[in-house]
Parts: sequence; C-alpha cells; structure tokens
Amino acid sequence: MPPALKALASQLAGGLIAWLMGLAGLLPPGLWPLALAQAIGAVMVAALLRSARWWLPIHLLFVPLALAMRTLALAPGWYLAAFITLALIYWSSFRTQVPLYLSNRKTAAAVADLLPPDRPAQVLDIGSGTGSLLRVLARLRPDCHFAGIESAPGPWALGWIQGRTMANLAWHRGDFFQHSWQGKDVVYAFLSPVPMAAVWRKATAEMPPGSILISNSFQVPDCKPERVIEVDDRRRTRLFVYRIKVPKARN
Ligand SMILES: C[S@@+](CC[C@H](N)C(=O)[O-])C[C@H]1O[C@@H](n2cnc3c(N)ncnc32)[C@H](O)[C@@H]1O
Repeated sequence: MPPALKALASQLAGGLIAWLMGLAGLLPPGLWPLALAQAIGAVMVAALLRSARWWLPIHLLFVPLALAMRTLALAPGWYLAAFITLALIYWSSFRTQVPLYLSNRKTAAAVADLLPPDRPAQVLDIGSGTGSLLRVLARLRPDCHFAGIESAPGPWALGWIQGRTMANLAWHRGDFFQHSWQGKDVVYAFLSPVPMAAVWRKATAEMPPGSILISNSFQVPDCKPERVIEVDDRRRTRLFVYRIKVPKARN
C-alpha cells in the first residue's frame, strides 16, 4: 500500500476506533478524550500497517493539534492558504516520496569538477527544484548546456524567474520519467531511495555509453558506483557516480 494511503487508512481507522469507544461508553465526555483515543488508535493501525517510524508521531499529533488550533480561532482562509502553499511546494511528494531540499554550493562545485573539462557537455538535473544547482553550474561552465525538469509548480516558478535570462539553461515543468534523457552526458539526481531503481533503468536504457549518472546521497540498489565523491560540507554530502557502459555485443 502506498504510504499516503496507509496514512489515510490509519487516520480513518483511528476515528472509527474512537467513535466505537465513545458509543460503548468507554470514554469520558468531551472532545479531548475522543481526540486522544483517535490518535492512539491511528498510531496502532499505522504500526500494524508497517508505516515508516516517523509517521507514528505525526499520527499521534495530527487530530490533537487540529483540535488545539481551534482555540486560536484563526479564519479558515489561513488554513486554505497554508494548504495551497505547501501543495505548490511539495506537489506530488506524497506519491513520488521525494521532498524538496536543495543542493548547496560546495556540492555544485564538486559536480562541476565531474563535467568533461575539455568539451561542452549536455547536463540534466532530474527533479531540479528551484534550479539552485543548475544556475551555479551554468555560470561556471558557459560552454555547456544545462536542463532542469521539475514537477512542483512552486519551485519550478522560482527557478524559471531566476534563470530566465541564462542562455545555456533550459527549464521544463513535468515528470522527468516522461522526458527523454537521450544525448545527455551527465544526469544529476538528488531524490530519495524510492525512485533510484527506476532512475537507473531509464538511465541505462536512454543515456549514451560513457555518460554518467550522479546521485546525491542515494545509491542505486545493487549497483556499484564507479566513484564516490565526499563533499566537504556540513551535511557530509556523498555523490555516487555511475557510468553507463557500452552494451555487451550479443552472439
Ligand atoms: C531533493 S529536491 C532536489 C532539487 C535540486 N535537484 C537540487 O539538487 O537542488 C528533489 C526535487 O525533485 C522533484 N521531483 C520528484 N520526483 C519528480 C518527478 N518524477 N519529476 C519531476 N520532478 C520530480 C521534487 O518536486 C523536488 O523538487
């Protein structure tokens, strides 16, 4: 079951448990006992569904916090505004399981060192966020061509505004699995462990022999990187470099 569906099922099941306990007269009167029963029920169901551990505190706090927020008597428009803002930033993260976090300058410099020094290269950032990596690279290597594909409208719009005058930067909105990676010398990914197997399948199917896939922090399962670069930054970023091999000739 996808994690978002597990979360919804846990919350609904928690609600059902609290409601049944209320009907059976097992809870003291008032909203707080109901909310606490819902929260504990949701946590138990989430654990039974083998949700990732970090979901459990979220389930525990979700309804009690919603109840507590009522005391602030905020206008409903604030909740709608917060929801729209978060949706524009995180968009399909509930499905892709890839949130937004940005590569830093030291990482961009390390990626620049991996570009071919003696010829122009075609570089693609899959899930390009706000373009924080690509803009640095595009300035460092005006001879190369850079492209970014981002699905979330918020980061995409920020990236478009900041990079619109850069001649060697193309900025696309959409799903990077639906775009071609053919002809790319370098594909950069800073995603999560979840899509890495599918990313590698697409890379080996479409990227030219000799090109490289650079993955920030997340390894391709069951595949040994050609190199691992340790970046000298605070989060101790590791870049895993995978080279696309020449396909073996068939007899
Ligand atoms: C961790 S951020 C990395 C941003 C940028 N590459 C950087 O290094 O600064 C990952 C981004 O990938 C985007 N993303 C995840 N899956 C995607 C997909 N299938 N197609 C396009 N973008 C995707 C997310 O919206 C998020 O903004």
